[in-house]
Amino acid sequence: MTTQRTVYVNGSFVAESEAGFSIFDSALMFGDVIFETTRAFNGQPFRLREHIERLYVGLRTLEIDCGLTPDGMEAATLETIERNRPCFPDGTDFQIVHNVSRGPLGFYESIFEGGAKPTVTINCWPLTWHLAALADSYVSGVHAVVPAQRSVPSRLIDPKIKNRSRIFYQMANIQAQKVDPEAWAVLVDEDGFLTEGTGSNFFIIKDGGLLTPEPRNILRGVTRQAVLELAQRLELPCQEKNLEPYDVMTADEAFFTSTPFTIMPATRFNGHDVGAGEPGPVTLRLMSAWNQMVEVDMVAQARAYADIAQKAG
Ligand SMILES: Cc1ncc(COP(=O)(O)O)c(C=O)c1O
Repeated sequence: MTTQRTVYVNGSFVAESEAGFSIFDSALMFGDVIFETTRAFNGQPFRLREHIERLYVGLRTLEIDCGLTPDGMEAATLETIERNRPCFPDGTDFQIVHNVSRGPLGFYESIFEGGAKPTVTINCWPLTWHLAALADSYVSGVHAVVPAQRSVPSRLIDPKIKNRSRIFYQMANIQAQKVDPEAWAVLVDEDGFLTEGTGSNFFIIKDGGLLTPEPRNILRGVTRQAVLELAQRLELPCQEKNLEPYDVMTADEAFFTSTPFTIMPATRFNGHDVGAGEPGPVTLRLMSAWNQMVEVDMVAQARAYADIAQKAG
């Protein structure tokens, strides 16, 4: 088994340890990067085309012409996956990350052969450590905490554009983790309505139905959308609406959604139990439906990765 992962960088494949962005790249100067994280289930990328389409909305908005069509990006992604597949032993699942920046700033153009061009990278990374760290949380649920840091409203930087200018998410994590080192931040907007986590969307369950913030001041997650579709199939009522912290305090259940972990129960909120303080029946039903859809038992997978991580020390 080879352990040398390979990264797509502007049309070439290079060793992961050698892949990178220039210190003169707009990525570093402005956080001027559009990105995506897709994951594989049983080695197959999940909703890759949706991720690529969201990437291209961001690129169009920022007026970055990365030199590839969406079809070309998909082909480069599939080739990156195939080149890295031998690095993932025993079917270990992985994430696929696209980072696309405007490239080196014009001032520095003279040192780049052929001038400054956008920087396109695609890399694969095993989910072993991400999911190992979450194995217990699937069972206990996580503690959601509202930090002082507010979401940046869409009239300033549109959160629907998945970009790397995210210092405010980092601030939110720092503040939430001062309350509880294990806490997951869930932000509110300027009006005090819940928005999203720092890398996830948020749902509550009340009287058997799903409620989730309106898609205005949030990233419209691919997992969020897939959960809404699953809920429809299960004939669970769903509503997108303004939610306040009060609504979580009075909810029966809550959970986060995001690509790497899919559905994570939130069993505490600002130091209080959500409902019975354990993953509730509707959340568990959705998790089970998700597992059936992707043919992976997410909780068992995380547990297996936790065992691997423990053996590896
Ligand atoms: C701010 C934010 N919200 C929501 C999500 C969830 O999106 P998805 O389900 O497409 O991974 C992410 C994912 O990284 C995110 O960064």
